[in-house]
Amino acid sequence: AGGLYQLSKAGKLCVPAMNVNDSVTKQKFDNLYCCRESILDGLKRTTDVMFGGKQVVVCGYGEVGKGCCAALKAMGSIVYVTEIDPICALQACMDGFRLVKLNEVIRQVDIVITCTGNKNVVVREYLDRMKNGCIVCNMGHSNTEIDVASLRTPELTWERVRSQVDHVIWPDGKRIVLLAEGRLLNLSCSTVPTFVLSITATTQALALIELYNAPEGRYKQDVYLLPKKMDEYVASLHLPTFDAHLTELSDEQAKYLGLNKNGPFKPNYYR
Ligand SMILES: NC(=O)c1ccc[n+]([C@@H]2O[C@H](COP(=O)([O-])OP(=O)(O)OC[C@H]3O[C@@H](n4cnc5c(N)ncnc54)[C@H](O)[C@@H]3O)[C@@H](O)[C@H]2O)c1
Repeated sequence: AGGLYQLSKAGKLCVPAMNVNDSVTKQKFDNLYCCRESILDGLKRTTDVMFGGKQVVVCGYGEVGKGCCAALKAMGSIVYVTEIDPICALQACMDGFRLVKLNEVIRQVDIVITCTGNKNVVVREYLDRMKNGCIVCNMGHSNTEIDVASLRTPELTWERVRSQVDHVIWPDGKRIVLLAEGRLLNLSCSTVPTFVLSITATTQALALIELYNAPEGRYKQDVYLLPKKMDEYVASLHLPTFDAHLTELSDEQAKYLGLNKNGPFKPNYYR
């Protein structure tokens, strides 16, 4: 989506575009709910690690970080969080996680997980200070968060122990366990459930239908978000899976809230 916005800003976008990536339903499933499950799956498949009592630091407390933290806490891990944004940091505190700087815990943690969307969050200086056996992986952006290139130096030995798992060995014998060479752990080492794919595919299909059916002039050569009502529709299509029963607004309640009974139920900016 970032590329589309750049094209639009430069006046080079020649058709209307839907940014389905930032649809609320899709984002919650791809980022929060999917990662909440696949962080454990990815770690288990690659390392067979036991989570109870392990000290874990999660870098970034956005949607992906919240999912990872929730899952690990539920498994009995001791979870630390790093953040740069005071609002997300406060959320981490309120959810019961210790907010730390990476250098304060890097010596003691058993697992390091990045999910910041940023670059060079885990650099060589930190990798040098990790304890023997520390597992390092990325759930965030591409392969930029862990400075893997900094580990390609002559004094360090790389040992491939199984697919997607490398031991990087220091001259004193210390090893760290690097997963998927710093690429996305869950995309490399886990699977995506069909339910998540269904949400994504439904969102994409509805965006295409909306663009196709829209009256002339509704969408210009720009990037748009899916209308809230359609986002709500994607969610409602998936409710029967859970035998969930949605409450309908009464006429009186709809009037009181100033809403249409059929939605949208929230303003566009609501996440
Ligand atoms: N693994 C997956 O399946 C998957 C799924 C969806 C998204 N992603 C990717 O994960 C990344 C995060 O997504 P998100 O939805 O959580 O984004 P987000 O913006 O909600 O969260 C990222 C958080 O990291 C924080 N941050 C930035 N730099 C930091 C730093 N140096 N140290 C500590 N915290 C820092 C930000 O303040 C923010 O709160 C994105 O790159 C996204 O593309 C991965």
